[in-house]
Amino acid sequence: MTEAPLPERPQASLVVEQLGFTWPSGHTALNHCSFSIPGPGLWMLVGGNGSGKSTLLRLIAGLLEPSRGRLQRPLKSALVFQNPDHQLLLPSCGSDIQLSLPAGLNTQQRRTAVEDALASVGLSGFRQRPIHTLSGGQKQRLAIAGALASQARLLLLDEPTALLDETSQREVLELIHALCTRTQEPLTALWITHRLEELEWCAAAALVERGSVGPWQRASTLRSRLNPLRPGRAER
Ligand SMILES: Nc1ncnc2c1ncn2[C@@H]1O[C@H](COP(=O)(O)OP(=O)(O)OP(=O)(O)O)[C@@H](O)[C@H]1O
Ligand SMILES: [Mg+2]
Repeated sequence: MTEAPLPERPQASLVVEQLGFTWPSGHTALNHCSFSIPGPGLWMLVGGNGSGKSTLLRLIAGLLEPSRGRLQRPLKSALVFQNPDHQLLLPSCGSDIQLSLPAGLNTQQRRTAVEDALASVGLSGFRQRPIHTLSGGQKQRLAIAGALASQARLLLLDEPTALLDETSQREVLELIHALCTRTQEPLTALWITHRLEELEWCAAAALVERGSVGPWQRASTLRSRLNPLRPGRAER
């Protein structure tokens, strides 16, 4: 069946409408999932294990095809995973970022783009550093530098601080918050977390339950309703 195009919402960073996803096993991970991100900023999703958060990010990133429903994705997106070792591929910081650069740049432009990406995550001078010598927090910031180098405007962050200590967690939060609130070309970030204290950094937060995203709420409102998190699986 051909579906009618979504009405244009020109300022929205993302529109998700009646999205559904069923794994080949028959398990439905997302069900009637509708929400939109109205514009740039740091937007957070919280939800219990198995509620469908990672599946949702993969659908938004285009790594999975929806079983039902529609997505309007006006911005180029990039995923940042919980474990940076799962996405850093090459031995040095500079060579890894090179992988993310858009095509068509000459050697000097590539060099500048790498330096700029490193500088914007606080890793100036790290171009030749072997990745295995970085701390966990530095690796996560390098993964974010790769996302920036790809010229993504929508960052999809799947529990990016889950493996970090408190100091590195704060550095990553501050970095993403700054990128999303800067005056020139602020980015949009969709950030998944289980750490409720992180909600204080967001523009708004929503609860993922049984494969669907609830309404945006003020961080303090959602936080007070969620302690402890309940598991929330999608119905089969
Ligand atoms: N590759 C897969 N094949 C089949 N089912 C899967 C697959 N990946 C995830 N699922 C199922 O889809 C549902 C949603 O999983 P998902 O990973 O999206 O949850 P989540 O909210 O990210 O959980 P967590 O907080 O533990 O990361 C779960 O029931 C999970 O078992
Ligand atoms: Mg997950």
